[in-house]
Amino acid sequence: MTLFSFVELAIVTLIVPFISALQNNLEMIPKYEFAGLLMDKNDPKAVVLYLAFVLLFLFSFKAVSDWFIHYDLCRLTQKIKNDLILNLYNGYLNLEYVDYKRFNTNTFIKNCLITTQNVVFSIHKTSETIRDSLLALVLVLALLNQSFQLSFFFISALALMGILFFKLMKGRQYNAGKTLEDSNRKLQKWVSQSFLSVKEIKINDSLAYYKHHLEKSLNEYNHANITLAVFPRVPKIILEYLVFTGLIAGALLVSISEQSVAGLVPVIVFYAFVIRRLIPLVNNIVSSHLELTGALASIQVLKNEFNIIQDYHQAQNKASHSFESDLSICGLNFSYNENAKVLDNINLHINKGDHIAVVGKTGSGKSTLVELICGLLEPEFGYFIADGKKIQNTRGLQHMIGYVPQQVYLLDESILSNITLREPDTLTGEERKWVQELAEICQINEFTDQLEKRLDTRVGERGNNLSGGQIQRVGIARQLFKKPGLLILDEATAAVDDKVETKVLEAIKQGLPDLTIIMVTHRISSLKKVDQVILIDKGKVAWKGDSGVIPENALKSIDSDRGAVILSKQD
Ligand SMILES: Nc1ncnc2c1ncn2[C@@H]1O[C@H](COP(=O)(O)OP(=O)(O)OP(=O)(O)O)[C@@H](O)[C@H]1O
Ligand SMILES: [Mg+2]
Repeated sequence: MTLFSFVELAIVTLIVPFISALQNNLEMIPKYEFAGLLMDKNDPKAVVLYLAFVLLFLFSFKAVSDWFIHYDLCRLTQKIKNDLILNLYNGYLNLEYVDYKRFNTNTFIKNCLITTQNVVFSIHKTSETIRDSLLALVLVLALLNQSFQLSFFFISALALMGILFFKLMKGRQYNAGKTLEDSNRKLQKWVSQSFLSVKEIKINDSLAYYKHHLEKSLNEYNHANITLAVFPRVPKIILEYLVFTGLIAGALLVSISEQSVAGLVPVIVFYAFVIRRLIPLVNNIVSSHLELTGALASIQVLKNEFNIIQDYHQAQNKASHSFESDLSICGLNFSYNENAKVLDNINLHINKGDHIAVVGKTGSGKSTLVELICGLLEPEFGYFIADGKKIQNTRGLQHMIGYVPQQVYLLDESILSNITLREPDTLTGEERKWVQELAEICQINEFTDQLEKRLDTRVGERGNNLSGGQIQRVGIARQLFKKPGLLILDEATAAVDDKVETKVLEAIKQGLPDLTIIMVTHRISSLKKVDQVILIDKGKVAWKGDSGVIPENALKSIDSDRGAVILSKQD
């Protein structure tokens, strides 16, 4: 960049001698000692030719290096953008699950894709501003060298205007940047929520509600965007206006003065050239500063996010454990908020190969308990004992735990990819065979046999092309693919009819006889399919024991509505 600025200086310095030589006025040409070797200083044509050649060379050099600098800058900023996005993406996915649930994923998407873009834009702008400032400095030096007083006055006026304008606009631009960040987040959220609510929009005729929020966010976004785009343009307009009126005034002065204009031509061309170059630079510097002020909000957002992510990165500790004979849960307590205890002093003993059902009223803490057992949440108090070894949490056991959540999220890929979560061409023959077995165990073949592409059928966004029960079966196969030692099913068969549930559970027991199963359920008929039952009530173990001897009052308290209905049907 420094070399680039010197080339600019050389071009500007050569303008006056070149125009003078064109006018056969060799007195204006400085005495270049080295130049004497190449040109005859008394021959105007030779001087013109020589200077034309040098100017052409310098211009060509400037044009090529300008392109290369721009190319390098673009590559550098793209690399920074990639790094920012990937680090943020990794960081978000490494957040503690409990904290992850506190955020809205649309904020993550906005930060990964839009805020990073704004920050990279500001980095690009900063480097451009540095380049423009260097060039402007060189041009200022050239101007001062030509005529100190006039140039000093002109430059001071320019600088004063720029500083004043920046000071006036700074606050407004920063606030607009903050509004833009916030409205971007809301826009992302409402667009995404609207598309995910298409059923409600159609059935409840509620489009107006979603549209109102979207339009509100759009208005905020547009208002901020207009402020950010329009005000940085103002210096350019003012400067062009002032320079134009200045030139007209200068021309009028010259025309009414008696002086011959011919002698002033090189100087006028010099000023015209330098000012023509300097004004966009000054404008860029001022407007870039304003744009950067607008992007400060995005920089602040990313800074905060990276601080949060970094803390988690440092806290990551995943020593691997396993349990071959038993797992105990000792004095487990958990709360999401300080005031509301969700699990209160849970003590359980699980032997390898046990089949356990966890039951209880809605909101009693069943999902929270299984999320603690699979290490997604960390106990507030209490600990685990795996094969006699005390462990604070079960993260180290995750390699041997399969967990099917209440809502299985399917990718818009094939059934095969959804089961394996791997590129199909990376699967070994044995793995492919296992997938086929799983399709049989989980009763997936029952519906894929009718599909032309069978396991290669795409499931659509969030499995939209499958039924709820089919999605759940793919979800179970996905967890069994890694051949876990412990399978946790959180109402993972709630959408499957009783017959299919029995078939799936029987096939799992047969195919994986050592597998320990913990199954959260509201379905009383499911209790016959396990050995032990644990009843959770208000975060406490209200009853535990053999599935064959569940007291009637315990059964009734499982789910006051659904449980009772199913029970009466069975009776
Ligand atoms: N992320 C969270 N932040 C705050 N509270 C939460 C959070 N997740 C769950 N809760 C609360 O914890 C309690 C237990 O929730 P949990 O999901 O474990 O219940 P559950 O027994 O699985 O219910 P269901 O049968 O309806 O699935 C509920 O009162 C719920 O509102
Ligand atoms: Mg639940």
